[in-house]
Amino acid sequence: MQCKLCGREAVFKSRGIRWCRDCFEKFYLKKVEDTISKYRMFNKDSKVCVAVSGGEDSAALAHALKRLGYNITLLHIHLNIEGYSDQVLEIVEKQAEIIGAPLHVEYLEKYGLKVQRVGYRPPCAVCGVFKRYLMNKFACENNFDVICTGHTIDDLTAFLFSAILTWDIDTMNKLRPFQPSSVENLKPKAKPLAFLLDKENAFYAKLNGLPIADAKCPFELTSKVKLYKKRLRRIDPRESFRLRWYKVFLNNFPFREESRSFKKCMVCGFPTVADKCSFCRIKELFQRYQTP
Ligand code: AMP
Ligand code: FES
Ligand code: ZN
Repeated sequence: MQCKLCGREAVFKSRGIRWCRDCFEKFYLKKVEDTISKYRMFNKDSKVCVAVSGGEDSAALAHALKRLGYNITLLHIHLNIEGYSDQVLEIVEKQAEIIGAPLHVEYLEKYGLKVQRVGYRPPCAVCGVFKRYLMNKFACENNFDVICTGHTIDDLTAFLFSAILTWDIDTMNKLRPFQPSSVENLKPKAKPLAFLLDKENAFYAKLNGLPIADAKCPFELTSKVKLYKKRLRRIDPRESFRLRWYKVFLNNFPFREESRSFKKCMVCGFPTVADKCSFCRIKELFQRYQTP
């Protein structure tokens, strides 16, 4: 097998192209850099918070951003899940060491919370609220300009698929690679891996010796994105389909700027469209379920 670009020995295949190590890494880093500049996500002077989960996507993203010369700090949220979170944290610490970036760990336990079903909300949905809230809080309190997550084209098309089936326009509106914000205490969110495939991130992480957490979250089966990834692949397994479909969506969906008016959560003061933010509402419910 020869690399399509330089003729050296190929080690990986994606998008119908055989890549050698060097050509693949050049392609990968250029894709990340081009996505950041095309969507004006941030620049080399920005203070960038990279949310790292222990998985390959966010590890590869942080590694690539550091290599490209961005000013990054890693943030990991320890989710207080027994038999899972401590093992993931160990891996995240190793990743941070290899990447050579500072790591901050936010512990859910500090808020008296843990991931579990709360009312009609499955654990994974509750976990999502916790993560989004704590990422934004940390970024605001430490004057970051932007929060980066390792969402990939596989994640974004899975969200898109699920949102289209229920005609969830609010979710569709959030699926751009960059979500700016003019709301006080609500940080912009960037997804520099929006045009990269899961398998490309996994390969980049492997090439760079990044350890990946192999512990499985016990609530994995309640994850909507995993389910929709599988469903979408059953409909069309081609990588080219996912890449094309997302671009068609970006070119044609009537994206609108956030029109809802935000107020301050009456409990914590962070922005919300209701009187209390989802985090504080879940926290209250949680305390109610815990009380005998
Ligand atoms: P997931 O929702 O697990 O697919 O993760 C999507 C992205 O959210 C990851 O690529 C990370 O950037 C971020 N993320 C997920 N879990 C955590 C966590 N525990 N701590 C920090 N960031 C996370
Ligand atoms: Fe959030 Fe599994 S990591 S529920
Ligand atoms: Zn609140």
